[in-house]
Amino acid sequence: MGCFFSRRFIEAENGKMRFRIIDGRRFHDISNSEYFVPNDDEEADRLVGFHYAMKDIWGGLFYSPVEEKLRQGARVIDLGCGAGTWILDMAKQYPYSKFVGVDLSPIFPTEGLPSNVEFIEYNVLDRLPYEDSFFDFVHQKIMLAAFTEAQWEENVIPEMTRLTRPDGWVEILEVAGYLVSDGNATNRISEAFRNFYTSRGMNFDIWKEIPHLLENTNAFSEIRKETKAIVLGKKGGIPGQETLRYCTVGLRACRSFLSADMDIMPEHYDSLVEVISIEAEKTTTYYNQYRYCAHKNISN
Ligand SMILES: C[S@@+](CC[C@H](N)C(=O)[O-])C[C@H]1O[C@@H](n2cnc3c(N)ncnc32)[C@H](O)[C@@H]1O
Repeated sequence: MGCFFSRRFIEAENGKMRFRIIDGRRFHDISNSEYFVPNDDEEADRLVGFHYAMKDIWGGLFYSPVEEKLRQGARVIDLGCGAGTWILDMAKQYPYSKFVGVDLSPIFPTEGLPSNVEFIEYNVLDRLPYEDSFFDFVHQKIMLAAFTEAQWEENVIPEMTRLTRPDGWVEILEVAGYLVSDGNATNRISEAFRNFYTSRGMNFDIWKEIPHLLENTNAFSEIRKETKAIVLGKKGGIPGQETLRYCTVGLRACRSFLSADMDIMPEHYDSLVEVISIEAEKTTTYYNQYRYCAHKNISN
């Protein structure tokens, strides 16, 4: 049976250990967060590559009709900014706007930042240090592994709503937590992932709930939705190949706990992940993405 191994704690801050090392990868050690993906350089690299693939897939950096406001000067926040590439790309394009990236872990850059960018290490589940209605545009992408379904409802959506000014926009981009395929290995890992998510109170179909969660706040006058199915591997061109890399590198990062959950050796798990790439080329594997934007009521 697989198990956690080489587990130790590193980087003390004020006597408190900040990170955990599991299977050679660095993870956060924050008790009220269920987020289970590493926060090291390898992960930052994965996120940067996927940022550019997504920009290509969606044909731009955002969905909300905020272009004009961004040109004039807007306040923008990205929750769970990761390596910060979305923020840096936006900041370059809109020099009169101010950008804040927030992440639980310090995997964003800290040096040589443009003057219109700030990154803060902060847990979105704690009330953020900004007054109500402070931002014109509140953005968040790929956070399905970050929050339980209850946290989405009780913390995340209310906090996004609180931070957005009346007439401002909230935008959420989510991926499905699984790959759609006829391949056995792909489906086996997707099923293990579903069980893992469920056991932690998370919903790997959270994209389905997002419109209802936004509607239930009664704070938005209009909610828009767009969907894309990305074909993985060579058939999907450069974005498809980069997305396949994003998925397989991400799955390898989850080896210690998914192999344990599946009751297989880590080496067996690695070989299944390798087969996912082969199945993507032999059959067709899709990775679905969804984006929503919501206009906050002028009277709120
Ligand atoms: C899959 S990554 C996506 C990063 C980025 N949005 C992107 O698209 O590249 C999820 C990020 O959310 C961060 N995160 C998870 N839980 C968080 C929380 N409670 N508060 C702030 N950030 C969180 C993680 O540290 C990680 O960087």
